[in-house]
Amino acid sequence: MENFDKQQIDEKVRKGFPFKDRRHNNFHLEMPFGLINDPNGLTYLDGTWHIFFQWNPLGVVHKNKCWAYTSTKDFITYSVPQLAMHPTDVHDKDGCYSGCGLAEDGKVRVLYTCNSKDEKNVRTAAQRFGTLENGKIRKDSIIVPGNPEGYTAHFRDPYIFYKHGKRYFVLGAQRADETGCALLYEETSDGWNFKGEIKTDYKNFGYMWECPGLLQFGNYDAMIFCPQGLEAEEFKYQNKFQAGYIAGHLSPDSLDFIHGKFEEIDKGFEFYAPQAFNNSGRHILIGWMGMPDRDDDFPAESDGWRFSLTMPRELTLKQGHIFSKPARELKKLRQDFFAVDAAETPETSFELFEGSESKIKIRFGKAKKITLTLDYAGEKVLMTYDKTEQVMTIDRNQMKSGGKGVRKFKLFADEEFDFRLFVDKTAIELFLQHGEEVASFFVFPEKDVVPQLKISGDATVEKISGKVWKLGKFNYV
Ligand code: FRU
Repeated sequence: MENFDKQQIDEKVRKGFPFKDRRHNNFHLEMPFGLINDPNGLTYLDGTWHIFFQWNPLGVVHKNKCWAYTSTKDFITYSVPQLAMHPTDVHDKDGCYSGCGLAEDGKVRVLYTCNSKDEKNVRTAAQRFGTLENGKIRKDSIIVPGNPEGYTAHFRDPYIFYKHGKRYFVLGAQRADETGCALLYEETSDGWNFKGEIKTDYKNFGYMWECPGLLQFGNYDAMIFCPQGLEAEEFKYQNKFQAGYIAGHLSPDSLDFIHGKFEEIDKGFEFYAPQAFNNSGRHILIGWMGMPDRDDDFPAESDGWRFSLTMPRELTLKQGHIFSKPARELKKLRQDFFAVDAAETPETSFELFEGSESKIKIRFGKAKKITLTLDYAGEKVLMTYDKTEQVMTIDRNQMKSGGKGVRKFKLFADEEFDFRLFVDKTAIELFLQHGEEVASFFVFPEKDVVPQLKISGDATVEKISGKVWKLGKFNYV
């Protein structure tokens, strides 16, 4: 096990703020060094949002999985992140893997996966509680020491939820036949008991499901999970691994989940392992802006940091579909703005700000295709909506460094095309059609320039109207 000196690491983090590398983002959670992945332990308690995430403080590779911790009351001002938990014993020596958070007796508690490998590299995954005390997680008891029969040790990422007055957790798993699934545990007076596998229509859907979550929207349930090993299709599953959901009704007693089809929750390039807070019916989701096995798409190794978290998003479920909008708190980032107002024109273009939000609607008129071009002194990202095909395409092939490629997905727009585009230094989030779809991705322009946004049609566009705001930065105190 590596030596993790919390005091030293926390001090080094403190010195890393404000960020020095120009590629660091202004309104995306990041660390000055190390590699971050999944958001963990998201908990709302008495006016504070507690946020943990996977972090390797010792390098920019997927190793030494620790939990980092920050908190915020408004999603704008955050506590300087610190090391909350690191491998300490035989149970979690190979990683404090992902888990959830909950408020209990006025405290923030967490439930996480202890990952351990023996001399023969045989893995054991145990589920353990912890309690947040002064920025550090005190490790409590292990409630599930290993995987049940019929499943492999790929058994991780517990997420607690409440239904009909009882407590349950779902957990990502792999069957002995190497297909993915989600398992359900129920709290009883004898402890946490294995109820069984959640029965969905997806019986052979990837080799492992990671990071499940169970969200309740009134009487409807949505199970978020991340299946690994799906084949890419023309308009789907184009990342290495997927993050999506099924929505419907889960009966914890029969384990039946009656649901609609699996939908990806973000259609961009860098989005995985999301988790949601639940506070009085508000579901606020944060995703990892990154992708397993795609480290080289992020050319920041030399600067000693890698990956970000998405902005917090508020989810709603309408007709079986999850809509995502930037958390309303983020409006407080807005500073100066200018209006965009063009009519009967094939194109309009303007310079954005160093960090910006563009909220724009377009009436097609004669145009059947609309392209949003983000232009960084000649390096370009093209975001094109084709109304005839009802297809959205995001093309990063004109960027020189970082991940490239194209993502394509179906999107419905009738007379109007609506978008909210958040452009941070390297992190971009595009919300489409009032949040019906979202796409998150990075760009790494060679030059430190403020991008231009060009909106163009393949014929005269009837109207382009909206606003562009300069956005401020997150504060770390
Ligand atoms: C998802 C994941 C989780 C695991 C964690 C380890 O990105 O693989 O399944 O708990 O990362 O960092």
